[in-house]
Amino acid sequence: MSKSLVSSPVIKRLPRYYRFLGDLESQGIVRISSRELSQRMGLTASQIRQDLNCFGGFGQQGYGYNVSELREAIRDILGVNAGNKAILIGAGNLGRAVTAHIDFPKRGFELIGIFDSDPDKIGKTMSGISISNVNTLEEFCSKNEPVCAIFCIPKDAAAKLAPKLIASGVKGFWNFSHYDFKPDDDVVVENVHLADSLMTLAYGLNNYSEDSAEKK
Ligand code: NAI
Repeated sequence: MSKSLVSSPVIKRLPRYYRFLGDLESQGIVRISSRELSQRMGLTASQIRQDLNCFGGFGQQGYGYNVSELREAIRDILGVNAGNKAILIGAGNLGRAVTAHIDFPKRGFELIGIFDSDPDKIGKTMSGISISNVNTLEEFCSKNEPVCAIFCIPKDAAAKLAPKLIASGVKGFWNFSHYDFKPDDDVVVENVHLADSLMTLAYGLNNYSEDSAEKK
């Protein structure tokens, strides 16, 4: 799978631009200068220009950005309209929270299946989708061709299922499990680890100084 030419920090900022522009749009704001956008977002105007220039640049000197046009362009860059078919594995506490709180269609995905190995869960529904037996996963994949899998399962289970899903054509993983994909798996992986984020906060607090906080 070819890697994106745009750096990962830039890509990670795009959803935030998209969210801010959506807020501006709902406030009826039609255009915004890069200076004002930068003040609202806590970035520098030059950072915003540099980020958007990675995609050909938007906005005009003296006019700024047309809010809906820029939002639409970022939506297309992100592929939020793509309707990528996704399956979720692990209908436990985390799986339930993810399906209840994430608006998949709004983020570019269509959740088409949920799988678990627990006989007590199989056949029940979660967010309107019937939970299927994980033994039927490969058959389901060959019939429905999901491109993305969401891992809400323990590490060992993820280690066993990842190669099968990759062989079945899954190209992207939203990985909440503590399984580490290997570089030669040749798939797109977005790891989400709440504990890592908390430890990053611990580092920030450990290195907090009044001086650096005032400069922000
Ligand atoms: P849970 O025990 O409530 O749910 C796990 C579910 O996975 C159960 O329904 C179980 O039957 C199912 N499962 C186990 N092996 C399976 C397999 N081979 N195939 C299909 N389904 C299988 O646990 P919870 O709280 O939902 O957490 C799930 C995993 O996510 C845990 O291993 C935990 O370490 C991890 N986790 C990660 C977080 C993060 O920030 N990345 C946060 C919370 C949990």
